[in-house]
Amino acid sequence: MKDSDFVLIVDDNPTNLSVLSQALKGAGFAVRVAEDGESAIELVQHKLPALILLDVQMPGIDGFETCQKLKADPLTQTIPIIFMTALTDTENKVKGFSLGAVDYIPKPFEEAEVIARVRMHLQLKQLSDRLEQRVAERTAALAQAQVQLVQQEKLSMLGQLVAGVAHEMNNPISCIISNVLPAQEYVSDITNILKLCQQYYSHLPPAIQEAIAQTDLEFILEDLPNLLNSMQLSTERVKEISVSLRNFARSDTAVKVGVDIHQGLDSTILILRHRLKALGQRPEIQVVRQYSSLPKVECYPGQLNQVFMNIIANAVDALEDVWQQKMRVDNFLVIQVFTQMLEPNFVMIRIADNGIGMTEAVSQQIFESRFTTKAVGKGTGLGLAIAHQIVVEKHGGAIQVNSTLNQGTEFTIVLPVNGVV
Ligand SMILES: Nc1ncnc2c1ncn2[C@@H]1O[C@H](COP(=O)(O)OP(=O)(O)O)[C@@H](O)[C@H]1O
Ligand SMILES: [Mg+2]
Repeated sequence: MKDSDFVLIVDDNPTNLSVLSQALKGAGFAVRVAEDGESAIELVQHKLPALILLDVQMPGIDGFETCQKLKADPLTQTIPIIFMTALTDTENKVKGFSLGAVDYIPKPFEEAEVIARVRMHLQLKQLSDRLEQRVAERTAALAQAQVQLVQQEKLSMLGQLVAGVAHEMNNPISCIISNVLPAQEYVSDITNILKLCQQYYSHLPPAIQEAIAQTDLEFILEDLPNLLNSMQLSTERVKEISVSLRNFARSDTAVKVGVDIHQGLDSTILILRHRLKALGQRPEIQVVRQYSSLPKVECYPGQLNQVFMNIIANAVDALEDVWQQKMRVDNFLVIQVFTQMLEPNFVMIRIADNGIGMTEAVSQQIFESRFTTKAVGKGTGLGLAIAHQIVVEKHGGAIQVNSTLNQGTEFTIVLPVNGVV
């Protein structure tokens, strides 16, 4: 059922009906008529009028009751109703208004007055409809902005948490790292002394001999340095991760700072490493970096890392999809990251994957908040909307996508070096 633009006249008096409808038709309105309340309600159910002129005194249900019924139904409650009656006493007027009528026309009517009132109320209705629509649009926009804000707030909290944890990890890790080396030296000293003892005291007391045999001293002395070595390597690795975490989660500065974009890209890739590893039958996702030499870029580094994270995480999803759907016969899954200087003062970052790609229709909507093609619980549809907002609004840059279904996708980000928006 769609909104119509006719005026419905409800009156049990045929003369009134014909006079009124002639007058309104003459003024350019489309008109329909009903002779009692029941048939009016019935008619309205099928086609919504723009306005109703309603007689009060009618056989069957009267105008007041008809009005009450129309106002009780959500479908018809917004139609403006104007009462027409010879009853001009105040009580009836008030009753009409209290039932939701917008106006009152006394009988016998002046044609010109009826037309003027109908016209005015139609205009008012149109205006209020438009206003309502505006409010609805604004409300939706606000709700969307709020979702993004909440999401960003969460991310920033998470960033602070990660930065804090990474910071706390730092001291104990440094302590282990700085102690491993002396421990290695001590072990080697002790080993030497033990060896000397064995050399000069060929006849050790039986208790010592037995203890040596039981612990397989030879093997321990051989293995201990290896063990310490691998401990050292592992702690260095933990240290690297801690640095990357802190780098990634740089809690954002109030003003832009000059940073090395490559560091942000590297730490993002490192953080996503667990998703790149081979999984079951799926081969490891290769990451190929082609970095050019770039100047420091004035930016909010934490936010930019978020952009890289959202794009690379999507690329991993797209590669998992292409693998699952067996669209890639060569089994080579790759994410390529290029950077390039665009003279005189822009940098360009391109992140490409040979994943599932997307159709033209999808690629036109990906930056919209809440747009996702992923299953509920997997996709939020916020990643690229946030990325777009960060790149365009916060950094005065541009972000674009170029994708071919079943072939792959490339995102291009251009940022001004001096951070001026
Ligand atoms: N690298 C990509 N390859 C294919 N499709 C992509 C890629 N990146 C984004 N998309 C499409 O864009 C949509 C929106 O992405 P995003 O805003 O990050 O939300 P989400 O990942 O939660 O779906 C995805 O659902 C997907 O359809
Ligand atoms: Mg995403």
